[in-house]
Amino acid sequence: MKIFTTREALQKHLQQARAAHKTIGLVPTMGALHQGHVSLIKQAQACNDEIICSIFVNPTQFNDPKDLEKYPRTIEADIQMLEQANCDILFSPDEKEMYDGNEQWHLDIGGLENLLEGKFRPGHYQGVTQIVYKLFSLVKPDTAFFGQKDYQQFLVISKMVELLSLPVKLVMCPIKREPDGLAMSSRNIHLTPDDRQHALTLSKTLDWIEGNFDAGNITGLKRNAELMIGNEPGIELEYFEIADGDTLLPAVEDSKKVVALVAARAGKTRLIDNVILSLKP
Ligand code: PAJ
Repeated sequence: MKIFTTREALQKHLQQARAAHKTIGLVPTMGALHQGHVSLIKQAQACNDEIICSIFVNPTQFNDPKDLEKYPRTIEADIQMLEQANCDILFSPDEKEMYDGNEQWHLDIGGLENLLEGKFRPGHYQGVTQIVYKLFSLVKPDTAFFGQKDYQQFLVISKMVELLSLPVKLVMCPIKREPDGLAMSSRNIHLTPDDRQHALTLSKTLDWIEGNFDAGNITGLKRNAELMIGNEPGIELEYFEIADGDTLLPAVEDSKKVVALVAARAGKTRLIDNVILSLKP
């Protein structure tokens, strides 16, 4: 695997790849890689010739400086995991390489800005779109791969691609879970054994919702889910929503796509998860 830390070196290499008519797949990450990230790399390999994984803990998307400070950084293990997955290129720039310290960014992403994650993490999606736009401009990927795990992030990035007419195809990859159902996340390493046990209520509640989904009883299902999670010790629910899969506004009976999304704190660790409930033809 080739490792680049500067934009210039990466661009030089990409020119050669493009001259050889290779298609380029991009998997943006913040590192502390796990099998969820690897599944994105595998999906990218199935679709493109040359795969770039970026690792950059993007400061502008953290609204809480403490969260940024304690975000796990495990570059040596990440490199090993990417080598094992046969990734072609790792791009791991430092902060100076990505930001010159004096720039403004604002993209009007409409209602998605202040709903769910946007409400609990003000400014988060401005930071996400800012860095993903920079990565897209630099790499000019044919395809970029993101996880369903961050469902709202995928919608926001799709919105940016549409608004700015960016020439990239986006692919959403399914959520990878631990054998007991917990959605894989870089933040899981912060969970104490007790937190980890209690955190299972999120995937269990989503499973229950999936098994009992009834578009005519969304309010009842949501209330039940809130009770299930609310009754779990050590878990502080931020939101549970059964939402329209396109707008993330509360779902209505004839929403074409419905998604149940949850965010909660297990001890000090903030976790998110979701399940897609229906796709009407
Ligand atoms: P990060 O949290 O590192 O996630 C990188 C990608 O991996 C995202 O597209 C995320 O949805 C996906 N992912 C995370 N957990 C997953 C799981 N269990 N199964 C499948 N995919 C999973 O998301 C970000 O970084 C950043 O916001 C980023 C897009 C890189 C911009 O900084």
